[in-house]
Amino acid sequence: MKILVLGPGAREHAIVLSLLSEDAEHSIVCAPGNAGIAASGVETVDLAFTDPDAVTKFVSDRGFDLVIVGPEAPLVAGVADPLRAGGVPVFGPNADAAQLEGSKAFAKRIMDEAGVPTGRAAKVASAAEAGAVLDEFGAPYVVKADGLAAGKGVLVTEDRDAAIDHIATWAPHGEVLVEEFLDGQEVSLFFFADGHDVVALTPAQDYKRIFDGDQGPNTGGMGAYSPLPWLPGGTEAFIEEIKRDVAIPTVRQLESEGTPFIGLLYCGLIVTSKGVKVIEFNARFGDPETQVVLARLESPLSAYLLASANGELASLPAPTFSDEPAVIVVLASEGYPGDVATGREITGLEAAEAVTGVHLVHAATARTQTGGWIATGGRVLGVVSRGQSFAEARARAYSALNEIDLEGGQFRTDIAERVA
Ligand code: AMP
Ligand code: GLY
Repeated sequence: MKILVLGPGAREHAIVLSLLSEDAEHSIVCAPGNAGIAASGVETVDLAFTDPDAVTKFVSDRGFDLVIVGPEAPLVAGVADPLRAGGVPVFGPNADAAQLEGSKAFAKRIMDEAGVPTGRAAKVASAAEAGAVLDEFGAPYVVKADGLAAGKGVLVTEDRDAAIDHIATWAPHGEVLVEEFLDGQEVSLFFFADGHDVVALTPAQDYKRIFDGDQGPNTGGMGAYSPLPWLPGGTEAFIEEIKRDVAIPTVRQLESEGTPFIGLLYCGLIVTSKGVKVIEFNARFGDPETQVVLARLESPLSAYLLASANGELASLPAPTFSDEPAVIVVLASEGYPGDVATGREITGLEAAEAVTGVHLVHAATARTQTGGWIATGGRVLGVVSRGQSFAEARARAYSALNEIDLEGGQFRTDIAERVA
């Protein structure tokens, strides 16, 4: 197949590597991609990938059998809409269905209509009414800005003044929700969706905070592992429950409203003492969870993406996953998730990749003129490893990280420790 992957990050690198690992040969283009994706032998094209007109023109010029939209920004901007209208198979929802991620208030309404279990929430229009709402919900306070905020819109805090400040910051930009605090382990579970049917992938757990022990501010994700051996009732029962109670009702609700969801339904869940609840939906593969989920996927990814795009998921068997655990540890630049120092040299990538069971996914790297590497952003790259046990996968990931030098580079040392 001729496949276009849209997006610049490590998630897209993982998608590309999964497509390259299939028995069938594909011709893959990634736009804009990154230096790591190019180093994997894939053509990268500088393209305004969040601009529907630019993407439509590129697709009609070059011709593709399948377009995969990686990040949320192009989806919310409506990149999928004209492609789908023009008959191109696209994996990624139209802008209206992408509101499931683009608007927390929209997602709450869909969940309410569909009877999906989630935390209680109240809208706050201004800082003036914030105090009363916060007191009604009690600490810890959960405050969420409505729109896309690149991970900065959600604040979970014991500090009432900080919660009020967060509301004051975001209220001028749109709705703000105060939500019931949900206590428990987080699970990310992805479903392929074709507008009517869904097919589950396998659960993963993401580490959102910057420092060990889940301390410090939220990030885009500092690591992940899969599978989750501690799931109540085991993996199969858990997947069935979430499919029945969350994914199917959500997809059917969107279908009934004339906004079918075709793409990746990311269910962000918390396993509370009162059952599993949804904390968020995303309309695309999660980063960095995708890197461990696809590292375990044995079935051909492209078949599921194409069947989703064509409304034919019901014709496919459930995908299979390796029993071997997978772990990713993310290397970030100094200062992340605040202002980062960039342009610093990275060495040791070849030695890292030579560690058994390890591969790298790049997020923000560039080549130097002499063939070396520099870091160009916050989350720089991920070290993905597999092993016969979590202990082995962890040992491999951290020994690979030991080979890598980046001045001021930071990574968590406790990824998957709780399961090893
Ligand atoms: P979100 O962008 O909605 O996924 O929120 C980012 C992170 O904030 C989540 O991964 C959770 O760690 C945390 N969070 C969000 N909502 C809640 C909630 N209702 N209770 C507890 N933690 C939450
Ligand atoms: N890992 C969290 C996300 O992709 O939103």
